[in-house]
Amino acid sequence: MHRMKKSHAFALAGLTLVMGLSGCRPEGAKQTLPGVELYAACKSCHGVDGHGQQNIAAPAIAGLPAWYVEAQLVKFRTGVRGAHPDDFEGLRMRPMSQQMMDTGEVKAVSAYVASMAPMKQPATVQGGDAAAGAASYGVCLACHGPDGKGNPQLNAPPIAGQHDWYLVSQLKKFKSGIRGANPKDITGGQMRPMSMTLADEQAMKNVVAHINTLAK
Ligand code: HEC
Ligand code: HEC
Repeated sequence: MHRMKKSHAFALAGLTLVMGLSGCRPEGAKQTLPGVELYAACKSCHGVDGHGQQNIAAPAIAGLPAWYVEAQLVKFRTGVRGAHPDDFEGLRMRPMSQQMMDTGEVKAVSAYVASMAPMKQPATVQGGDAAAGAASYGVCLACHGPDGKGNPQLNAPPIAGQHDWYLVSQLKKFKSGIRGANPKDITGGQMRPMSMTLADEQAMKNVVAHINTLAK
């Protein structure tokens, strides 16, 4: 009973938030909004320039390829990503992925995000050994490339230039099954065993210290 009430209140708060953020969509508007207008709902977390914000654990998304942004938005929308009860950051992103009315709008906002200029994010993670990380990166380069720019053929996103705290958090999520363990998550399921090659948090910090050296 108590539980019900709480989740109800949460749902209402979420709805109010969504309605507040989607102020750009006139009530009952049916037409597909352009990406730039849809992005208004993303700014509060990912920033005006799409460079992310550590205090709310929102990654940089500016310049990520449209195919990857679209694939992730679809995963969030369908609960393939961000629905695990321990995925606090993913749970924050999930309702935002519902902002888009249809697949046309998902494509539009993805194209807009891809068109934004990427930026190398500052290193924040302490204690990583880049030389040791370079050795473990040998496993990663088959998919993410020696330069960390990713490979669309293998569905592997660019990781160079991304916030290092976000990369560590995702490696932890893959390893613990908070991300990539849903049987419908085909590409996450390809990444998951790769995270297992990193023995512990130190190994993750090391490989991320190496990834930090890749972005120009
Ligand atoms: C309430 C804050 C918030 C808002 C608003 C928000 N996001 Fe997010 N987003 C997040 C967080 C937090 C994550 C990281 C989730 C995780 O750790 O797995 C994320 C992750 C993402 C990712 C995955 C990036 C990657 O490298 O895998 C994409 C893509 C994304 N958001 C796009 C969007 C778009 C497009 C919008 C607007 C329609 C949006 N977000 C609105 C908080 C937000
Ligand atoms: C077999 C190919 C493959 C290998 C090898 C691989 N990855 Fe991945 N990686 C992927 C794919 C595919 C994704 C996208 C998963 C998805 O769609 O959710 C991914 C996603 C990621 C992400 C999340 C990026 C984001 O923006 O959220 C990180 C971080 C990552 N990989 C790091 C690594 C590291 C570090 C290694 C080496 C230890 C590695 N990967 C090895 C295929 C691979």
